Amino acid sequence: MLVRLPGVYPAQYDSWALVEALKQETLGPDSRVLDLCAGTGVLSVCAAKQGAGRVTAVDVSRRAFATTWINTRPHRRSVRVVRGDLTEPVRSERFDLVVSNPPYVPAENDRVPVSGIARSWDAGKDGRAVLDRICLQVPDVLKAGGVLLLVQSTLSGIEKSGAMLEEQGLRVDVVSRVDVPFGPVLAARRDMLTQRGVIAMGQRSEELVVLRAVK
Ligand SMILES: C[S@@+](CC[C@H](N)C(=O)[O-])C[C@H]1O[C@@H](n2cnc3c(N)ncnc32)[C@H](O)[C@@H]1O
Repeated sequence: MLVRLPGVYPAQYDSWALVEALKQETLGPDSRVLDLCAGTGVLSVCAAKQGAGRVTAVDVSRRAFATTWINTRPHRRSVRVVRGDLTEPVRSERFDLVVSNPPYVPAENDRVPVSGIARSWDAGKDGRAVLDRICLQVPDVLKAGGVLLLVQSTLSGIEKSGAMLEEQGLRVDVVSRVDVPFGPVLAARRDMLTQRGVIAMGQRSEELVVLRAVK
């Protein structure tokens, strides 16, 4: 059971897809894990329970930072919680595994929110404002042989994420796909996304994909 302060993203389909992928990884006392965009800290808790010796959770939101801090207290010997922008606070460190469930929902415009719960999902018109930065930054903080597990929607360009990571020498596979009904945010954007040609007329679900990229 996770605590969640108001304004923090509740763990849901995308979080669980990543939890399942994380459970397939082998972690031990020497494993260094980075949870980028931690939210409630659900993935940090999962990594700690799986035996990772050193987990770092990063989120830009004060409320998410506090929520992750509370939820990871039982694992405080192995989890460190940091507030900051993506890999900026850990750029001199190297990790065996990076897990990330970033904002990836196509928004009305390219202004990325700087506060409020919409910061958890809004990611510019193409949904890639944070994804592009992750695909550029994460290879630099992975050890050789390190793994990135990244969840996103097919509405925000799986091929582009794969191509960006491969360009930097990573080997990329899709390890899971799940079709989920539109939540309230996408349901409210159906007309806009249909007009842009991002979804088909009458479409009511999106596909979530977990990418696994190895350096
Ligand atoms: C979709 S939620 C994921 C939360 C959690 N990992 C999960 O799977 O349930 C995305 C999170 O990214 C955080 N975030 C957005 N932009 C960020 C940035 N530039 N750097 C770090 N965290 C960011 C938000 O505050 C939010 O908590």
